[in-house]
Amino acid sequence: MSAARGRLDGRVAIITGATSGIGEAIAYRFAREGAVTVLSGRRSELGERNARRIADSGGRAAFVRADVREQGDIKALVAETVRRFGKIDILVNNAGVLGNVRFEEATIDDWRAIVDTDALGGISAMWEVLPLMRRQGGGCVINVTSIDATLSSPHEPLYCFVKAGMEHLTRALAKEYAAYNVRLNNLAPGLVATDLARANPEMFRKLEEGIPMRRAGTPDEMANIAAWLASDEASFVTGATIEANGGMVR
Ligand SMILES: NC(=O)c1ccc[n+]([C@@H]2O[C@H](COP(=O)([O-])OP(=O)(O)OC[C@H]3O[C@@H](n4cnc5c(N)ncnc54)[C@H](OP(=O)(O)O)[C@@H]3O)[C@@H](O)[C@H]2O)c1
Repeated sequence: MSAARGRLDGRVAIITGATSGIGEAIAYRFAREGAVTVLSGRRSELGERNARRIADSGGRAAFVRADVREQGDIKALVAETVRRFGKIDILVNNAGVLGNVRFEEATIDDWRAIVDTDALGGISAMWEVLPLMRRQGGGCVINVTSIDATLSSPHEPLYCFVKAGMEHLTRALAKEYAAYNVRLNNLAPGLVATDLARANPEMFRKLEEGIPMRRAGTPDEMANIAAWLASDEASFVTGATIEANGGMVR
């Protein structure tokens, strides 16, 4: 019998926003599945710690600091990954911030802040990585969006706007890049127990009560889906949105 193989053996993956929460869980999970994992984010201490933990448990990982709002940082992240590991098979655009400010209260700077991170951050990364995947003859992009892309919320219209835009961009690009064996999909979480979601504990509790499963999801539950989407088991899946929200059916 051959030795057990991980589902992502030999793949090189970049994960943005891998210093905490969902991105951190995806990085650990990808590493356990055999991927060389490049973690990114702004908080170097956390990123270095996560990369070290992966290395300590026998995986291959590196942390490259990047602010997704800076195109130069994204270029450097991609260049450094290729320099060290030779290719990029998987890109997870996970870095994100919340924009829970009501429409009339939002300033133009609020709009710019969320567009710069949750939209242009992922777009810049795809600009760098998609041509490379096309030349390589394949690849996989996962854009972490949100239930708010389709479940409109009056509390966070800015967030709904960017997440919906990213979901639709994924679908458009999936059609274009299918010919090159590059798959692009959305992972749309509902409420997940992370620092971002718990920032307002009262709101978190209220939201949890409204979930048919009566609980928030865990970062590991999101990582399970990302690992499947990135694996060959999902080889015919592109342009899809996988929703994981505890039964918030619309
Ligand atoms: N938790 C939920 O309920 C939920 C629900 C739906 C969707 N989501 C989405 O899931 C993704 C991850 O969120 P999370 O819940 O795991 O929150 P989190 O723990 O706060 O993680 C957010 C990550 O994004 C990174 N980030 C933020 N701004 C960045 C920037 N300018 N440049 C680079 N990295 C940046 C942060 O890293 P640094 O601070 O180190 O830069 C951090 O690693 C987000 O896209 C979010 O919209 C979350």
